[in-house]
Amino acid sequence: MGKTLLVLGAQWGDEGKGKITNYLSEKAEVVIRYQGGNNAGHTIVFNNHKYKLSSIPSGVFDENVKCVIAHGVVLNPRAFIVERNQLIEQGFACNNIYISDRCHIIFDHHLELDRLNEDNLKDKKIGTTKKGIGPCYTDKTARIGMRMCDFVGPNFKQKYKDLLEIKNQQIRSLNGNEIDYEKTVVEYQELADIIRPMVTDTITLINDAKKQGKNILFEGAQGSLLDIDYGSYPYVTSSHVTSGGVLCGSGIGCHGLDEVLGIVKAYQTRVGEGAFPTELLDEIGNEIREKGNEYGTVTRRPRRIGYLDLVALKYSVLVNGITSICLTLLDVLTGFKEIKACVAYEYEGKIINTLPASDEVLHKCKPIYKTFKGWNEDISNVKSFDELPENAKEYIRFIEHELEVPVDVFSVGADKMQTIVRKELF
Ligand code: GDP
Ligand code: IMO
Ligand code: MG
Repeated sequence: MGKTLLVLGAQWGDEGKGKITNYLSEKAEVVIRYQGGNNAGHTIVFNNHKYKLSSIPSGVFDENVKCVIAHGVVLNPRAFIVERNQLIEQGFACNNIYISDRCHIIFDHHLELDRLNEDNLKDKKIGTTKKGIGPCYTDKTARIGMRMCDFVGPNFKQKYKDLLEIKNQQIRSLNGNEIDYEKTVVEYQELADIIRPMVTDTITLINDAKKQGKNILFEGAQGSLLDIDYGSYPYVTSSHVTSGGVLCGSGIGCHGLDEVLGIVKAYQTRVGEGAFPTELLDEIGNEIREKGNEYGTVTRRPRRIGYLDLVALKYSVLVNGITSICLTLLDVLTGFKEIKACVAYEYEGKIINTLPASDEVLHKCKPIYKTFKGWNEDISNVKSFDELPENAKEYIRFIEHELEVPVDVFSVGADKMQTIVRKELF
């Protein structure tokens, strides 16, 4: 009998979801993206090559794996084709991509509105990736968006014209650059012609695969703390990143998920604005950034760095129903005299153990740390938990104990081979 497994970011994104999804996809028959769009940047390293994916699921390198872009995703057709062409140039046929007829399309007007919204927010800006994600999901919930079935459908031209009239009004009111219908419609039609053969009813595809007992992997984008409902609002993305997003974004049904693998970076990073209680604005933070090459895949922004936040992680375990943890980038912590993990917050003289709803409150939370002794041994070639230095083992055991979830997988380098599985998940 097959299994359905979700690979989910448990922090603020960039935990190494792409690497782990790609690793696990060897045993999967279907890999599915269920939310987000090309705000995601997933880096995958194997056979001495580095690949960067944004909209395409991380199982694409194996032609036997069906890669599904489900309806919870927002898709920029131009960016998708550029990404696919790059992969084709690198020798991957990309005949294994299936796109939902229900997913919403990111158009140029969404990119312009993302830019304008951010500019207008001034010092309250979100720090978005400017990929049009928020404006596209806004149109979806306002019920004026365009879905893939209409993008590749016979009445696209008229529908796009009507839509653009409304969106250009909005752009005009914000003193932005209007989108020229004549200039864009031809390109969109050409893109639709390329994409049309990939468009299908992915709800049926996914459920058929489940019925047939296939191993199914869901690949999350962003991180749980960026979820529109559960994240540090308003400094979040616009989709349902957490495990519930799989249900509404793929159509698998409420009994659909067997296991939830939370990907946890051994420390914490964040891109964009918003509270970050364990943020390190010192030399240690800089050192971690350089050792971990913590620069955004999509925007190349330096990622903000902090110590592991177990208060935030407990919340993430809770709201996602995380059943296993994969601890990534553990090698980056090698060489530090001591390592800290936040076990509670102090807020206005009181100790709190839960994540506050308000970003302003979170901003004022002071981390209470437990300090661990570091290690100096190079761990990038270890093949088992037993080979780790005692202090690294101690750190992992503490995380397991605090979160009450086993660290079944850990990662000690960017390469696919630098993955250690303590308990098989498929
Ligand atoms: P994602 O968005 O969750 O897929 O993560 P990103 O790919 O944006 O960021 C993770 C970065 O860490 C990438 O550059 C990976 O190649 C790299 N990486 C993943 N796991 C490890 C690890 O265990 N050690 C090191 N040093 N790098 C890793
Ligand atoms: P992956 O999948 C890290 C952040 C942005 C910003 C906020 C809103 O690689 O983990 P958006 O463009 O989504 O409206 O921006 O969310 N953000 C990410 N941060 N990793 C990501 O994806 C992110 N996708 C969006 O920096 O703070
Ligand atoms: Mg990323």
